[in-house]
Amino acid sequence: MNDRPAHQPPAQPSRRPPAQPPGPPPVQPAAQITACGQPPVVTGRRSPVPGAGQELVRVLAAPITPLDLLCASGTSYFGTPALPYVPGVQGVGSVGGRLVWFPTPAGMAAGDGSMAGLAVVRGEDLVDLPADSDPFAMAALGLSAVAAYMALTWRGELARGEQVVVLGGGGVVGQAAIQLARLAGARRVVAAARSADGIQRARSAGADAVIPLRPVAATSTATGAVDSRSDARAHADDPRPDAEAVADDPRPDAQVVARKVDDLARRLAAACDGPADLVLDPLYGIPAAAAARTLREGGRLVNLGGSASETCPLDSATLRSRSLRVLGYTNNELTREQRAAAITYLAQQSAAGRLRVAHEVVPLAEAADAWQRQASGATSGRIVLHTG
Ligand SMILES: NC(=O)c1ccc[n+]([C@@H]2O[C@H](COP(=O)([O-])OP(=O)(O)OC[C@H]3O[C@@H](n4cnc5c(N)ncnc54)[C@H](OP(=O)(O)O)[C@@H]3O)[C@@H](O)[C@H]2O)c1
Repeated sequence: MNDRPAHQPPAQPSRRPPAQPPGPPPVQPAAQITACGQPPVVTGRRSPVPGAGQELVRVLAAPITPLDLLCASGTSYFGTPALPYVPGVQGVGSVGGRLVWFPTPAGMAAGDGSMAGLAVVRGEDLVDLPADSDPFAMAALGLSAVAAYMALTWRGELARGEQVVVLGGGGVVGQAAIQLARLAGARRVVAAARSADGIQRARSAGADAVIPLRPVAATSTATGAVDSRSDARAHADDPRPDAEAVADDPRPDAQVVARKVDDLARRLAAACDGPADLVLDPLYGIPAAAAARTLREGGRLVNLGGSASETCPLDSATLRSRSLRVLGYTNNELTREQRAAAITYLAQQSAAGRLRVAHEVVPLAEAADAWQRQASGATSGRIVLHTG
């Protein structure tokens, strides 16, 4: 994990929902997006008033997620959001003494989100959490863990005894997927990650093997599995995506890409104990093309994100020779009931100590700096704003 004294999280705030005062204050602290592509500004904002069918939630914890960053950029397929608005597509808070997880449409449709002291939420969208839940741990898991769970078990139809390859194993989706695959009875979980910190997070999540996305130095094993943190760190500071210097390579781009796919596919296959059954892919691009080659006949690859690339050099021969199934997944297709059931399962596993992802708790007042750090990857995990 990153060791950045300047950004040490504050002492863990209380996990208890605060006692409910008689009524909301007229003005509340809130983070606001005032310009697309810019971090939010923390300011005082008039307290929201719930309408019919809505509840006023006292927010405790609001994560900063890739979806929040994408929506606020103004470049998402939801379109440019009306400004200003309070970001935060999800959070954990209290209402009427209940501890709840809640979604919001912030950035995707009209309405404010969770990065404020108070949020207005449709009553039917609230999901009760066990009273002893850690709200920050649950907020960190949130919709990324829902996606990991449903992409594995519902879209991916993971069966007991199967072997799973998890790409992006150091992200929240990846860390959750490693643990959830294990809970679902996977025989072996092989992860791949980009940065040294990501590799370490994937290991901490319990992967049987963790493969660096990029080839590592001669001191590594045949699979490229990292033998020491210093070996991985040698590659961690290179800002170029995905691999070595493409610009320095005299061969045509297609050959360079093919070589990278070959190399990663070989190292992933060597870390598996035979053909894999399922690939969980939040990255796409070269990693997905390589991971597809580890699959058995009829194996499944579920894509749920494009963190590495929006396109993928997946060749027809790999697809058709193994009759592979390549599937897409989005949380947006879940029914309210499916989403609530997934959150409830995740909360149970979290409360039981079987599911946890790396996260930092940061006060709402520091939202702008936290936003920029989350966007640049300069964090020790998911940043969760402490809004209570
Ligand atoms: N379909 C859905 O419903 C759904 C739901 C939630 C999330 N998602 C998507 O899933 C993806 C991951 O989400 P998350 O919550 O896990 O985000 P996250 O915690 O920020 O993790 C991002 C992951 O992507 C990796 N990464 C970033 N850029 C990369 C690159 N150029 N090459 C290779 N790896 C790269 C990071 O590697 P390091 O850790 O090594 O830096 C990290 O593992 C995002 O694209 C997100 O939008 C989709």
